[in-house]
Order: sequence, then C-alpha cells, then structure tokens
Amino acid sequence: MKLSSFGKKLTSGSGIVGLMEDLGDALNENPDMIFMGGGNPARIPQMEVVFKAQYQSLCKNNEQLYSTTGVYQSPQGELGFRRDIANMLKNQFGWPLTEANIAISNGSQSAFYILFNLLAGQMPDGSFKSIHLPLTPEYIGYNDLGLSEKFFTGSKPDIELIGDHQFKYHVNFDDLAVDDKTAALCVSRPTNPTANVLTDDEISHLDQIAQQADIPLIIDGAYGVPFPNINFIQAEPHWNNNTILVLSLSKLGLPGVRTGIVVAAEQVIEAFSNANTVINLASGNIGPSLTRDLFASGEIVELSKQYVQPFYQQRSQQVMALFKQAMSDLPCRIHLSEGAIFLWLWFEGLPITSEALYQRLKKRGVLVVSGHHFFAGIDDEWPHQHECIRVSYVQDLSEIEQGVKIIAEEVKLAYQQG
Ligand SMILES: Cc1ncc(COP(=O)(O)O)c(C=O)c1O
Repeated sequence: MKLSSFGKKLTSGSGIVGLMEDLGDALNENPDMIFMGGGNPARIPQMEVVFKAQYQSLCKNNEQLYSTTGVYQSPQGELGFRRDIANMLKNQFGWPLTEANIAISNGSQSAFYILFNLLAGQMPDGSFKSIHLPLTPEYIGYNDLGLSEKFFTGSKPDIELIGDHQFKYHVNFDDLAVDDKTAALCVSRPTNPTANVLTDDEISHLDQIAQQADIPLIIDGAYGVPFPNINFIQAEPHWNNNTILVLSLSKLGLPGVRTGIVVAAEQVIEAFSNANTVINLASGNIGPSLTRDLFASGEIVELSKQYVQPFYQQRSQQVMALFKQAMSDLPCRIHLSEGAIFLWLWFEGLPITSEALYQRLKKRGVLVVSGHHFFAGIDDEWPHQHECIRVSYVQDLSEIEQGVKIIAEEVKLAYQQG
C-alpha cells in the first residue's frame, strides 16, 4: 500500500499510537501487569449506578431511544442538549452563553484535531502557523494531531522546588514567545500528565497575551470544572469570547460514549461544526442522551463534587504517601497533586533515561509512561525531559502498592549503578 503524507504521518507509530500499542502488547504478554500507564478513568460505583439508571430509562422510552439511535443530529449537536449545557454554565459561572456557543464532538480528542487544524498549519498566504503550548510537559494526545510538521511550539516551565520531595511548574512568561506565527495558545487545566493546575493569575496573564495577539486561548478542561471536577485546589474557571474551552464526558466514567463539548464564540462554533460535518457527518447521540437530564437538573455538577472529585483526591493522597515512604532516601520529587488522575515523578540526575526506566519496569511487570513523550515543541536536549515518569493511580490500591515498591526498587538500582 502506498501511503500519502497524511497516511504516513498518522500511521508512523510515533507518539501516542506507538505508546498505546506498546501498552497493549505488554498487557497481552503479561495479563498480571500492574497497570499504572494509561489514562482510563476509574470505576466509581456510585457513578455507575447513576449511568445505569439513565440507560434503563432511555431504553424504556421508545421515542427517546429512536432519537438517540435512529436519527442523525444536526452537525452542531442536539439543540436541547446544547441549550442545557449553555444554561448550566451560565448559571454556574455567569458566562454569557447560548446554544450557539456550544458544539458537540465525538470525544474531545477529535475536537482538538479539528480545532488545531482549523487554526494552524499552512495559511492561505503560504505562511505556516503553529499552536503554542505555554507550559510543557503537556498532554501527549496533542502531539500527532497537526497535519503539518513543526505544528507545535512549547515553552519550558519555571520549576518551584517545594521542600525536599515536591515541586510545581509555573508558566515562564519570559520564555513565552508569541509572534505572528502563533495561531493559538493551548493548556490543559488540570494538566495531564503533571497534575498541575495553572493558577488564576497564570490564566489571566495567558488570556491577556492571547487577546493582545488576537489569537484564541484554548483551555482543555477534560479534568476540570464544572465536571468531572477532578480539581483539588481552589481555581477560578475561565471563559470569555476569546477562549475555546473543550470539555469531555470521558473522565466522569464515560470514555466509551465518546462525547466532547466545545464552548466558544459563535464564529468558532460555526467553523467547527462545518468541519465536523465534513469529517463525521454528525456526532454520536448516546452521550448526550444519557446525560441530558443530569445537565438539565445541574445534577452533573453535584455528582462530580460528591463522588468523582473525592475519589481521585483521596486516591492521589494515598498513592502520594506510598511514594513518599518508598522513595524517602532517593532523589525523587513529585509534582504537587492539584488535579487530574496521575502523579508526575521527577528523578533528578537519573543515570538512565526515563524510557530505559520504563523498559526495566515493564520487564518487572509494572507499566508507567515515560515522561519524554510529553514535551511536544521542545526540541533541545533538556535533561529534565528524560528524568520524569507519569503514573496513574486508578487501579486497585493493593496493586498500586506493589507497583510503587517495584518502581522504588528499580529507581534505587538505577542510581546505584550510576
Ligand atoms: C488532557 C486531555 N485532553 C483530552 C483528552 C481526550 O479525551 P476524550 O477524547 O476521551 O474526550 C484526554 C484523554 O485522556 C486528556 O487527558
């Protein structure tokens, strides 16, 4: 088969595809593998009860069932669902939204594919623009979404050391080079992979920079407020007409329904919906149908606060304590756990690369993700890129306990072998 440039780019096996394949193979080779690698959300029994009840009521109502599975919805998504979301966000945060500011996508990943390529790449005048990531490390899933080369630029963070074992990244505004080649700024908040939550000041500074440069600020709220609200610190939600906020039902526990939500200026929503029609014809209806009542009543916000957020916050504290104990005599720092579903570990001066550590851990039956995948747009050989790993803490706690022990043993061995 002869592949086009597009075909080659999307099938090269680099980035997220290679990573997911590697994780899949490792699990097939060893089903007992301790899985601290992927980004699947946890099973939260209380949420499963709510979703099951929603499924059951959907199946009992013929008309609802038909409109869920028997019709193409409009390219922007079902009007009533978009109206409910707009109202909920308006009531929660006072944002001046209507249904014209909301579009539905097949998962937020596909929304990013469309949004990024609408804004960046080759421009009609022949010039190229890129998406700037103001704070890398950033979400690995962005890396291969751009249809042209050098699609992302990134800024290294400032690193605040906290005590002997923790740290926090901050946006390095001195290094934030926005110029006429920058199409948009993009941040995930809370951030995958680091569990960082950009401060309110950082967000308002980025907003100011974006407005001055007349480019959008894209905020990826896959873990953010008001749902799934996997946010452990006080942080003001942000939206204005220059912001493109992308939300998702996935981390509520519904990654299989593939529903993303774009909240943006009407002009952006129109462009997005046209492109979404070309690519998808329409978005799936199951996610909207299952959650519509929860949005209309505002229950989605309460469920997130009552069950989703506490589950992850408690788990993050438990696993943080396990790591602190296991790593107390090692040069290991853990990023402050402010949200999302991961811990981000930094082994300063690690004599082997994080990729080599990942391979050694895989042999010992523990899957993590090597940190070097998360530095899109940073092309120099910054050692920090090869000194970090991301671990997820959604699996069974006893397995994680075992995983932490093995990670500590391998890290210790790596330092000793020096
Ligand atoms: C930060 C972030 N953004 C976007 C996504 C994509 O999620 P989905 O396509 O399931 O909405 C993920 C998935 O893990 C993520 O971690």
